[in-house]
Amino acid sequence: MSQVLVASNRGPVSFSLADDGSLTLRRGGGGLVSGLAAVTGGGREPDDGCAPPDVLWVCAALGEADRSAARRAPEGRLDLDGHDTGGAAVRMLDIPPATFHRAYNAVANSTLWFVHHLLYDTPRVPHFDARARRDWQSYEAYNAAFADALARDAAPGAKAAVQDYHLSLAPRMLRDRRPDLKIVHFSHTPWASPEYYRLLPDDVGAAVLDGILGADHAGFLAERWAAAFLDCCEQLLPGARVDRAARTVTFAGHVTRVGVHALGVDGQQLRARAAEPDVAERRRALREQVGDRRLIVRIDRTELSKNIVRGLAAYREMLANHPEWHGRVVHLAFAYPSRHDLPEYREYTAAVQRLAAQIVDEYGTATWDPLILQVNDDYPRSLAAYGMADVLVVNPIRDGMNLVAKEGPVVSEHGCALVLSREAGAAAELAADALVVNPYDVSQTAEALHQALLMPPDRRAERSARLAAAATALPPRRWFADQLAALD
Ligand code: F6P
Repeated sequence: MSQVLVASNRGPVSFSLADDGSLTLRRGGGGLVSGLAAVTGGGREPDDGCAPPDVLWVCAALGEADRSAARRAPEGRLDLDGHDTGGAAVRMLDIPPATFHRAYNAVANSTLWFVHHLLYDTPRVPHFDARARRDWQSYEAYNAAFADALARDAAPGAKAAVQDYHLSLAPRMLRDRRPDLKIVHFSHTPWASPEYYRLLPDDVGAAVLDGILGADHAGFLAERWAAAFLDCCEQLLPGARVDRAARTVTFAGHVTRVGVHALGVDGQQLRARAAEPDVAERRRALREQVGDRRLIVRIDRTELSKNIVRGLAAYREMLANHPEWHGRVVHLAFAYPSRHDLPEYREYTAAVQRLAAQIVDEYGTATWDPLILQVNDDYPRSLAAYGMADVLVVNPIRDGMNLVAKEGPVVSEHGCALVLSREAGAAAELAADALVVNPYDVSQTAEALHQALLMPPDRRAERSARLAAAATALPPRRWFADQLAALD
Protein backbone atom coordinates (compact mmCIF):
# COMPACT_ATOMS: atom_id res chain seq x y z
CA MET A 1 0.00 0.00 0.00
CA SER A 2 1.21 3.54 -0.75
CA GLN A 3 2.35 6.02 1.86
CA VAL A 4 -0.20 7.41 4.31
CA LEU A 5 0.39 10.56 6.34
CA VAL A 6 -1.65 11.14 9.47
CA ALA A 7 -1.85 14.65 10.93
CA SER A 8 -3.27 15.38 14.36
CA ASN A 9 -2.60 17.77 17.20
CA ARG A 10 -1.92 15.04 19.74
CA GLY A 11 0.35 12.28 18.55
CA PRO A 12 0.77 8.64 19.54
CA VAL A 13 3.53 9.47 22.04
CA SER A 14 4.56 12.34 24.24
CA PHE A 15 7.60 12.99 26.42
CA SER A 16 8.37 14.14 29.92
CA LEU A 17 11.69 15.52 31.10
CA ALA A 18 13.48 13.84 34.05
CA ASP A 19 15.62 15.83 36.50
CA ASP A 20 18.81 14.64 34.78
CA GLY A 21 17.55 16.03 31.45
CA SER A 22 16.69 12.63 29.98
CA LEU A 23 13.41 12.14 28.16
CA THR A 24 10.86 9.48 29.04
CA LEU A 25 8.19 8.52 26.63
CA ARG A 26 4.56 7.60 27.18
CA ARG A 27 1.60 6.80 24.98
CA GLY A 28 -0.61 9.76 24.00
CA GLY A 29 -4.19 9.73 25.33
CA GLY A 30 -7.70 10.44 24.05
CA GLY A 31 -10.20 8.90 21.68
CA LEU A 32 -8.52 10.05 18.50
CA VAL A 33 -5.15 8.63 19.50
CA SER A 34 -6.67 5.33 20.72
CA GLY A 35 -8.44 4.98 17.39
CA LEU A 36 -5.47 5.82 15.26
CA ALA A 37 -2.80 4.03 17.29
CA ALA A 38 -4.39 0.76 16.26
CA VAL A 39 -4.11 1.68 12.60
CA THR A 40 -1.28 -0.68 11.82
CA GLY A 41 -2.14 -3.12 14.56
CA GLY A 42 0.80 -2.34 16.84
CA GLY A 43 2.88 -5.07 15.25
CA ARG A 44 0.01 -7.59 15.35
CA GLU A 45 -0.92 -9.46 12.22
CA PRO A 46 -4.04 -7.88 10.77
CA ASP A 47 -7.06 -10.13 11.28
CA ASP A 48 -9.45 -8.22 9.06
CA GLY A 49 -7.77 -8.32 5.69
CA CYS A 50 -6.58 -4.68 5.76
CA ALA A 51 -2.89 -4.46 4.86
CA PRO A 52 -0.94 -2.20 7.26
CA PRO A 53 0.00 0.98 5.42
CA ASP A 54 3.37 2.76 5.59
CA VAL A 55 2.41 5.55 8.00
CA LEU A 56 4.11 8.81 8.91
CA TRP A 57 2.27 10.51 11.79
CA VAL A 58 2.76 14.29 12.02
CA CYS A 59 1.75 15.83 15.34
CA ALA A 60 2.47 18.89 17.48
CA ALA A 61 5.03 19.00 20.27
CA LEU A 62 2.74 19.59 23.25
CA GLY A 63 5.17 20.81 25.91
CA GLU A 64 8.81 21.62 26.61
CA ALA A 65 9.81 17.95 26.75
CA ASP A 66 8.17 17.22 23.39
CA ARG A 67 9.83 20.30 21.92
CA SER A 68 13.18 19.17 23.16
CA ALA A 69 12.61 15.68 21.65
CA ALA A 70 11.50 17.26 18.36
CA ARG A 71 14.65 19.40 18.24
CA ARG A 72 16.91 16.41 18.90
CA ALA A 73 15.34 14.39 16.09
CA PRO A 74 17.07 14.54 12.72
CA GLU A 75 14.73 16.05 10.15
CA GLY A 76 12.13 16.12 12.91
CA ARG A 77 11.48 12.35 12.73
CA LEU A 78 11.67 10.77 16.18
CA ASP A 79 13.70 7.71 16.89
CA LEU A 80 11.11 5.53 18.61
CA ASP A 81 12.87 2.23 18.42
CA GLY A 82 11.27 -0.24 20.76
CA HIS A 83 8.22 1.94 21.46
CA ASP A 84 4.82 0.93 20.21
CA THR A 85 3.36 3.60 17.95
CA GLY A 86 1.28 1.13 16.01
CA GLY A 87 4.10 0.91 13.46
CA ALA A 88 4.02 4.59 12.46
CA ALA A 89 7.05 6.84 12.11
CA VAL A 90 6.42 10.04 14.07
CA ARG A 91 7.33 13.61 13.26
CA MET A 92 6.69 16.21 15.97
CA LEU A 93 6.35 19.83 14.94
CA ASP A 94 8.11 22.36 17.12
CA ILE A 95 5.51 25.12 16.87
CA PRO A 96 6.37 28.34 18.80
CA PRO A 97 4.68 28.11 22.26
CA ALA A 98 2.63 31.32 21.88
CA THR A 99 1.31 30.23 18.48
CA PHE A 100 0.51 26.77 19.83
CA HIS A 101 -1.24 28.17 22.89
CA ARG A 102 -3.47 30.49 20.85
CA ALA A 103 -4.28 27.88 18.21
CA TYR A 104 -4.93 25.00 20.63
CA ASN A 105 -6.38 26.71 23.70
CA ALA A 106 -7.99 29.87 22.35
CA VAL A 107 -9.30 28.81 18.94
CA ALA A 108 -9.54 25.01 18.88
CA ASN A 109 -10.59 24.29 22.47
CA SER A 110 -12.30 27.51 23.59
CA THR A 111 -14.00 28.42 20.33
CA LEU A 112 -14.49 25.53 17.88
CA TRP A 113 -14.93 22.90 20.59
CA PHE A 114 -17.47 25.12 22.38
CA VAL A 115 -19.45 25.69 19.18
CA HIS A 116 -19.59 22.03 18.16
CA HIS A 117 -20.54 20.88 21.68
CA LEU A 118 -23.11 23.66 22.27
CA LEU A 119 -21.21 24.84 25.33
CA TYR A 120 -21.74 28.56 25.01
CA ASP A 121 -24.42 29.80 27.35
CA THR A 122 -25.19 33.03 29.13
CA PRO A 123 -23.06 34.49 30.68
CA ARG A 124 -20.35 32.61 28.80
CA VAL A 125 -21.12 34.07 25.40
CA PRO A 126 -18.75 34.30 22.45
CA HIS A 127 -16.69 37.45 22.38
CA PHE A 128 -14.79 37.88 19.13
CA ASP A 129 -12.61 40.95 19.50
CA ALA A 130 -9.18 42.09 18.34
CA ARG A 131 -7.53 39.56 20.62
CA ALA A 132 -9.58 36.74 19.10
CA ARG A 133 -8.43 37.93 15.66
CA ARG A 134 -4.83 37.56 16.79
CA ASP A 135 -5.63 34.06 18.08
CA TRP A 136 -7.18 33.23 14.73
CA GLN A 137 -3.97 34.26 12.94
CA SER A 138 -2.07 31.84 15.17
CA TYR A 139 -4.56 29.11 14.26
CA GLU A 140 -3.83 29.84 10.60
CA ALA A 141 -0.07 29.69 11.26
CA TYR A 142 -0.43 26.42 13.20
CA ASN A 143 -2.43 24.87 10.34
CA ALA A 144 0.14 26.15 7.83
CA ALA A 145 2.95 24.49 9.81
CA PHE A 146 1.17 21.15 9.43
CA ALA A 147 0.46 21.75 5.74
CA ASP A 148 4.14 22.61 5.14
CA ALA A 149 5.35 19.48 6.94
CA LEU A 150 2.89 17.22 5.12
CA ALA A 151 3.71 18.81 1.75
CA ARG A 152 7.41 18.29 2.40
CA ASP A 153 7.21 14.66 3.56
CA ALA A 154 4.53 13.25 1.27
CA ALA A 155 5.54 10.92 -1.55
CA PRO A 156 3.90 11.63 -4.93
CA GLY A 157 0.23 10.61 -4.84
CA ALA A 158 0.31 9.78 -1.11
CA LYS A 159 -2.81 9.88 1.04
CA ALA A 160 -3.05 12.38 3.88
CA ALA A 161 -5.50 11.83 6.75
CA VAL A 162 -5.96 15.13 8.58
CA GLN A 163 -7.70 14.86 11.94
CA ASP A 164 -10.12 17.03 13.80
CA TYR A 165 -11.05 20.62 14.57
CA HIS A 166 -7.47 21.66 15.36
CA LEU A 167 -6.64 21.18 11.71
CA SER A 168 -9.67 22.36 9.79
CA LEU A 169 -7.70 24.75 7.57
CA ALA A 170 -4.90 22.30 6.76
CA PRO A 171 -6.67 20.34 3.98
CA ARG A 172 -7.14 23.43 1.81
CA MET A 173 -3.60 24.63 2.55
CA LEU A 174 -2.21 21.21 1.68
CA ARG A 175 -4.18 20.98 -1.57
CA ASP A 176 -2.78 24.38 -2.59
CA ARG A 177 0.77 23.12 -1.91
CA ARG A 178 0.40 19.56 -3.23
CA PRO A 179 -2.53 19.04 -5.61
CA ASP A 180 -1.27 15.50 -6.35
CA LEU A 181 -2.16 14.23 -2.85
CA LYS A 182 -5.40 12.55 -1.85
CA ILE A 183 -6.70 14.17 1.30
CA VAL A 184 -9.26 13.08 3.86
CA HIS A 185 -10.32 15.23 6.82
CA PHE A 186 -11.94 13.48 9.77
CA SER A 187 -13.99 15.21 12.50
CA HIS A 188 -13.96 13.42 15.86
CA THR A 189 -16.41 15.92 17.34
CA PRO A 190 -20.06 16.59 16.69
CA TRP A 191 -20.79 19.25 14.08
CA ALA A 192 -22.95 22.23 15.03
CA SER A 193 -26.18 22.99 13.20
CA PRO A 194 -26.17 26.27 11.17
CA GLU A 195 -28.16 28.12 13.86
CA TYR A 196 -25.37 27.51 16.37
CA TYR A 197 -22.46 27.57 13.93
CA ARG A 198 -23.45 31.16 13.12
CA LEU A 199 -22.05 32.18 16.51
CA LEU A 200 -18.68 32.19 14.75
CA PRO A 201 -17.74 35.37 12.88
CA ASP A 202 -18.88 34.92 9.25
CA ASP A 203 -15.37 34.88 7.80
CA VAL A 204 -14.10 32.41 10.42
CA GLY A 205 -17.06 30.06 9.92
CA ALA A 206 -16.60 30.18 6.14
CA ALA A 207 -12.81 29.64 6.42
CA VAL A 208 -13.33 26.48 8.50
CA LEU A 209 -15.81 25.07 5.97
CA ASP A 210 -13.57 26.05 3.06
CA GLY A 211 -10.56 24.49 4.82
CA ILE A 212 -12.27 21.12 5.20
CA LEU A 213 -13.60 21.30 1.64
CA GLY A 214 -9.98 21.32 0.50
CA ALA A 215 -10.14 17.57 1.25
CA ASP A 216 -11.44 14.99 -1.21
CA HIS A 217 -13.37 13.27 1.54
CA ALA A 218 -14.76 14.69 4.80
CA GLY A 219 -15.52 12.02 7.39
CA PHE A 220 -17.78 12.17 10.45
CA LEU A 221 -18.57 9.73 13.24
CA ALA A 222 -22.37 9.82 12.88
CA GLU A 223 -25.03 10.66 10.31
CA ARG A 224 -26.29 13.65 12.25
CA TRP A 225 -22.87 15.34 12.32
CA ALA A 226 -22.41 14.78 8.57
CA ALA A 227 -25.90 16.18 7.92
CA ALA A 228 -25.15 19.28 10.02
CA PHE A 229 -21.94 19.86 8.06
CA LEU A 230 -23.88 19.71 4.79
CA ASP A 231 -26.46 22.13 6.24
CA CYS A 232 -23.70 24.58 7.20
CA CYS A 233 -22.13 24.39 3.72
CA GLU A 234 -25.50 24.95 2.09
CA GLN A 235 -26.64 27.81 4.30
CA LEU A 236 -23.45 29.59 5.31
CA LEU A 237 -20.91 29.19 2.52
CA PRO A 238 -21.86 31.31 -0.50
CA GLY A 239 -21.01 29.48 -3.73
CA ALA A 240 -21.11 25.98 -2.24
CA ARG A 241 -23.38 23.48 -4.03
CA VAL A 242 -24.64 20.59 -1.92
CA ASP A 243 -25.94 17.40 -3.50
CA ARG A 244 -27.78 15.58 -0.70
CA ALA A 245 -28.36 12.35 -2.61
CA ALA A 246 -24.72 11.97 -3.63
CA ARG A 247 -23.55 13.51 -0.34
CA THR A 248 -21.10 15.83 -2.05
CA VAL A 249 -20.20 19.51 -1.78
CA THR A 250 -18.84 21.34 -4.81
CA PHE A 251 -16.92 24.48 -3.94
CA ALA A 252 -14.19 26.44 -5.71
CA GLY A 253 -14.24 23.94 -8.58
CA HIS A 254 -13.54 20.96 -6.33
CA VAL A 255 -15.84 18.15 -5.19
CA THR A 256 -15.67 16.84 -1.61
CA ARG A 257 -17.52 13.67 -0.68
CA VAL A 258 -18.96 13.50 2.82
CA GLY A 259 -18.96 10.13 4.58
CA VAL A 260 -19.92 8.57 7.88
CA HIS A 261 -17.42 6.23 9.53
CA ALA A 262 -18.38 5.13 13.02
CA LEU A 263 -15.43 4.23 15.22
CA GLY A 264 -15.60 1.12 17.39
CA VAL A 265 -13.11 -0.67 19.60
CA ASP A 266 -10.76 -3.58 19.03
CA GLY A 267 -12.37 -6.21 21.27
CA GLN A 268 -9.50 -8.67 21.13
CA GLN A 269 -6.88 -6.09 22.05
CA LEU A 270 -9.01 -4.53 24.78
CA ARG A 271 -9.89 -7.85 26.45
CA ALA A 272 -6.24 -8.92 26.34
CA ARG A 273 -5.21 -5.66 28.03
CA ALA A 274 -7.93 -6.09 30.66
CA ALA A 275 -6.54 -9.54 31.48
CA GLU A 276 -3.11 -8.12 32.47
CA PRO A 277 -1.93 -8.46 36.09
CA ASP A 278 -1.98 -4.68 36.77
CA VAL A 279 -5.74 -4.65 36.05
CA ALA A 280 -6.30 -7.63 38.37
CA GLU A 281 -4.41 -5.78 41.10
CA ARG A 282 -6.62 -2.68 40.68
CA ARG A 283 -9.71 -4.89 40.70
CA ARG A 284 -8.75 -6.34 44.08
CA ALA A 285 -8.24 -2.84 45.51
CA LEU A 286 -11.59 -1.61 44.14
CA ARG A 287 -13.38 -4.71 45.40
CA GLU A 288 -12.09 -3.95 48.88
CA GLN A 289 -13.52 -0.42 48.67
CA VAL A 290 -16.88 -1.42 47.19
CA GLY A 291 -17.46 -4.75 48.94
CA ASP A 292 -20.47 -6.64 47.60
CA ARG A 293 -22.45 -3.47 46.91
CA ARG A 294 -23.87 -2.69 43.47
CA LEU A 295 -21.60 -0.55 41.37
CA ILE A 296 -22.33 2.44 39.12
CA VAL A 297 -19.29 3.59 37.11
CA ARG A 298 -18.51 6.65 35.01
CA ILE A 299 -15.17 7.41 33.34
CA ASP A 300 -14.54 10.75 31.65
CA ARG A 301 -12.02 13.43 31.03
CA THR A 302 -13.14 16.34 33.25
CA GLU A 303 -14.70 18.02 30.31
CA LEU A 304 -17.69 20.36 30.17
CA SER A 305 -19.34 18.40 27.38
CA LYS A 306 -19.24 15.18 29.44
CA ASN A 307 -21.93 16.58 31.74
CA ILE A 308 -20.43 15.12 34.91
CA VAL A 309 -22.18 17.59 37.25
CA ARG A 310 -25.66 16.63 35.99
CA GLY A 311 -24.67 12.96 36.14
CA LEU A 312 -23.70 13.27 39.82
CA ALA A 313 -26.84 15.30 40.50
CA ALA A 314 -28.87 12.44 39.00
CA TYR A 315 -27.18 9.97 41.35
CA ARG A 316 -28.01 12.25 44.28
CA GLU A 317 -31.64 12.45 43.17
CA MET A 318 -31.79 8.67 42.86
CA LEU A 319 -30.54 8.31 46.43
CA ALA A 320 -33.14 10.85 47.56
CA ASN A 321 -36.00 9.11 45.72
CA HIS A 322 -34.97 5.54 46.45
CA PRO A 323 -33.65 5.17 49.99
CA GLU A 324 -33.72 1.41 49.49
CA TRP A 325 -30.33 1.83 47.77
CA HIS A 326 -28.69 3.49 50.77
CA GLY A 327 -25.76 1.36 51.86
CA ARG A 328 -26.26 -0.97 48.86
CA VAL A 329 -24.72 0.96 45.99
CA VAL A 330 -21.46 2.78 45.29
CA HIS A 331 -20.85 5.26 42.47
CA LEU A 332 -17.26 5.22 41.21
CA ALA A 333 -16.63 8.40 39.24
CA PHE A 334 -13.28 8.70 37.48
CA ALA A 335 -12.84 12.25 36.20
CA TYR A 336 -9.41 12.70 34.72
CA PRO A 337 -7.90 16.19 34.42
CA SER A 338 -8.14 17.80 31.02
CA ARG A 339 -7.15 21.13 29.42
CA HIS A 340 -6.36 22.81 32.70
CA ASP A 341 -4.82 25.78 30.91
CA LEU A 342 -8.41 26.92 30.38
CA PRO A 343 -10.23 28.55 33.31
CA GLU A 344 -13.56 26.94 32.29
CA TYR A 345 -12.03 23.51 32.77
CA ARG A 346 -10.46 24.35 36.12
CA GLU A 347 -13.79 25.74 37.34
CA TYR A 348 -15.60 22.67 36.07
CA THR A 349 -13.21 20.34 37.91
CA ALA A 350 -13.90 22.32 41.09
CA ALA A 351 -17.68 22.08 40.52
CA VAL A 352 -17.44 18.30 40.10
CA GLN A 353 -15.40 18.01 43.30
CA ARG A 354 -17.80 20.26 45.24
CA LEU A 355 -20.86 18.27 44.27
CA ALA A 356 -19.15 14.94 44.97
CA ALA A 357 -18.21 16.17 48.46
CA GLN A 358 -21.81 17.31 49.09
CA ILE A 359 -23.18 13.89 48.15
CA VAL A 360 -20.72 12.15 50.48
CA ASP A 361 -21.63 14.61 53.27
CA GLU A 362 -25.34 14.14 52.76
CA TYR A 363 -25.50 10.37 52.46
CA GLY A 364 -22.21 8.86 53.64
CA THR A 365 -22.07 6.92 56.90
CA ALA A 366 -19.27 5.43 58.98
CA THR A 367 -19.58 2.21 56.95
CA TRP A 368 -20.71 3.42 53.51
CA ASP A 369 -19.10 5.73 50.94
CA PRO A 370 -21.90 6.39 48.44
CA LEU A 371 -19.54 8.05 45.96
CA ILE A 372 -15.84 7.67 45.25
CA LEU A 373 -14.40 10.36 42.98
CA GLN A 374 -10.92 9.75 41.57
CA VAL A 375 -9.18 12.41 39.54
CA ASN A 376 -5.82 10.80 38.80
CA ASP A 377 -5.61 9.12 35.42
CA ASP A 378 -5.08 5.38 35.77
CA TYR A 379 -5.92 3.28 32.70
CA PRO A 380 -5.63 -0.17 34.36
CA ARG A 381 -7.97 1.03 37.12
CA SER A 382 -10.47 2.17 34.48
CA LEU A 383 -10.35 -1.27 32.88
CA ALA A 384 -10.88 -2.89 36.28
CA ALA A 385 -13.91 -0.65 36.90
CA TYR A 386 -15.40 -1.51 33.50
CA GLY A 387 -15.04 -5.16 34.36
CA MET A 388 -16.87 -4.81 37.68
CA ALA A 389 -19.60 -2.29 36.78
CA ASP A 390 -23.28 -3.17 37.14
CA VAL A 391 -24.18 0.14 35.53
CA LEU A 392 -22.15 2.41 33.28
CA VAL A 393 -23.22 6.06 32.91
CA VAL A 394 -22.33 8.02 29.77
CA ASN A 395 -24.40 11.20 29.69
CA PRO A 396 -22.62 13.84 27.56
CA ILE A 397 -24.38 16.99 26.44
CA ARG A 398 -22.94 16.12 23.04
CA ASP A 399 -20.17 13.81 21.97
CA GLY A 400 -18.75 12.89 18.55
CA MET A 401 -18.87 9.19 19.46
CA ASN A 402 -17.82 8.34 23.06
CA LEU A 403 -15.68 5.25 23.33
CA VAL A 404 -16.36 4.72 27.06
CA ALA A 405 -19.87 3.56 26.09
CA LYS A 406 -18.25 1.01 23.79
CA GLU A 407 -15.32 -0.10 25.94
CA GLY A 408 -17.42 -0.79 29.05
CA PRO A 409 -19.64 -3.57 27.67
CA VAL A 410 -16.64 -5.18 25.89
CA VAL A 411 -14.64 -5.48 29.12
CA SER A 412 -17.62 -6.20 31.39
CA GLU A 413 -17.31 -9.44 33.33
CA HIS A 414 -20.95 -10.12 34.16
CA GLY A 415 -22.73 -7.66 31.90
CA CYS A 416 -23.41 -3.99 32.59
CA ALA A 417 -26.47 -1.86 31.97
CA LEU A 418 -25.65 1.26 29.96
CA VAL A 419 -27.29 4.61 30.75
CA LEU A 420 -26.54 6.57 27.59
CA SER A 421 -27.16 10.13 26.45
CA ARG A 422 -29.14 10.38 23.25
CA GLU A 423 -26.69 13.13 22.23
CA ALA A 424 -23.62 10.85 22.03
CA GLY A 425 -22.70 9.69 18.53
CA ALA A 426 -22.53 6.16 19.98
CA ALA A 427 -26.31 6.27 20.57
CA ALA A 428 -26.82 5.70 16.84
CA GLU A 429 -25.39 2.20 17.28
CA LEU A 430 -26.13 1.39 20.93
CA ALA A 431 -29.55 2.92 21.67
CA ALA A 432 -31.50 -0.35 21.23
CA ASP A 433 -29.79 -1.98 24.22
CA ALA A 434 -29.10 1.08 26.38
CA LEU A 435 -31.30 3.13 28.72
CA VAL A 436 -31.33 6.30 26.66
CA VAL A 437 -31.61 9.69 28.42
CA ASN A 438 -31.87 13.36 27.61
CA PRO A 439 -28.61 14.63 29.18
CA TYR A 440 -30.25 17.80 30.52
CA ASP A 441 -33.01 15.86 32.27
CA VAL A 442 -31.53 15.04 35.67
CA SER A 443 -34.72 13.40 36.97
CA GLN A 444 -34.99 11.13 33.95
CA THR A 445 -31.33 10.17 34.36
CA ALA A 446 -31.93 9.46 38.08
CA GLU A 447 -34.80 7.14 37.21
CA ALA A 448 -32.72 5.44 34.49
CA LEU A 449 -30.01 4.72 37.10
CA HIS A 450 -32.64 3.17 39.35
CA GLN A 451 -34.05 1.05 36.50
CA ALA A 452 -30.54 0.01 35.47
CA LEU A 453 -29.84 -1.20 39.00
CA LEU A 454 -33.11 -3.13 39.02
CA MET A 455 -32.46 -4.87 35.69
CA PRO A 456 -32.38 -8.66 36.20
CA PRO A 457 -28.85 -10.06 35.75
CA ASP A 458 -29.69 -12.33 32.80
CA ARG A 459 -31.38 -9.48 30.93
CA ARG A 460 -28.49 -7.18 31.69
CA ALA A 461 -25.98 -9.77 30.45
CA GLU A 462 -27.92 -10.28 27.20
CA ARG A 463 -28.12 -6.57 26.50
CA SER A 464 -24.48 -6.06 27.44
CA ALA A 465 -23.40 -8.83 25.03
CA ARG A 466 -25.34 -7.14 22.21
CA LEU A 467 -23.75 -3.79 23.11
CA ALA A 468 -20.30 -5.40 23.01
CA ALA A 469 -21.04 -6.90 19.59
CA ALA A 470 -22.13 -3.51 18.25
CA ALA A 471 -19.11 -1.81 19.84
CA THR A 472 -16.61 -4.12 18.13
CA ALA A 473 -18.31 -4.23 14.73
CA LEU A 474 -16.11 -1.46 13.32
CA PRO A 475 -12.68 -1.70 14.93
CA PRO A 476 -10.24 1.20 14.45
CA ARG A 477 -8.33 -0.50 11.64
CA ARG A 478 -11.56 -0.97 9.67
CA TRP A 479 -12.60 2.63 10.43
CA PHE A 480 -9.32 3.97 9.09
CA ALA A 481 -9.14 1.63 6.10
CA ASP A 482 -12.66 2.74 5.08
CA GLN A 483 -11.59 6.39 5.06
CA LEU A 484 -8.59 5.62 2.91
CA ALA A 485 -10.69 3.44 0.60
CA ALA A 486 -13.10 6.38 0.16
CA LEU A 487 -10.21 8.25 -1.50
CA ASP A 488 -9.84 5.67 -4.30
O1 F6P B 1 -11.99 14.69 19.06
C1 F6P B 1 -11.90 14.83 20.39
C2 F6P B 1 -10.48 14.78 20.91
O2 F6P B 1 -9.56 15.40 20.09
C3 F6P B 1 -10.09 13.33 21.15
O3 F6P B 1 -8.89 13.00 20.60
C4 F6P B 1 -9.91 13.22 22.61
O4 F6P B 1 -10.96 12.50 23.17
C5 F6P B 1 -9.93 14.61 23.14
O5 F6P B 1 -10.47 15.44 22.15
C6 F6P B 1 -8.56 14.99 23.58
O6 F6P B 1 -8.45 16.31 23.78
P1 F6P B 1 -7.06 16.93 24.11
O7 F6P B 1 -6.11 16.43 23.06
O8 F6P B 1 -7.28 18.41 24.08
O9 F6P B 1 -6.71 16.42 25.46
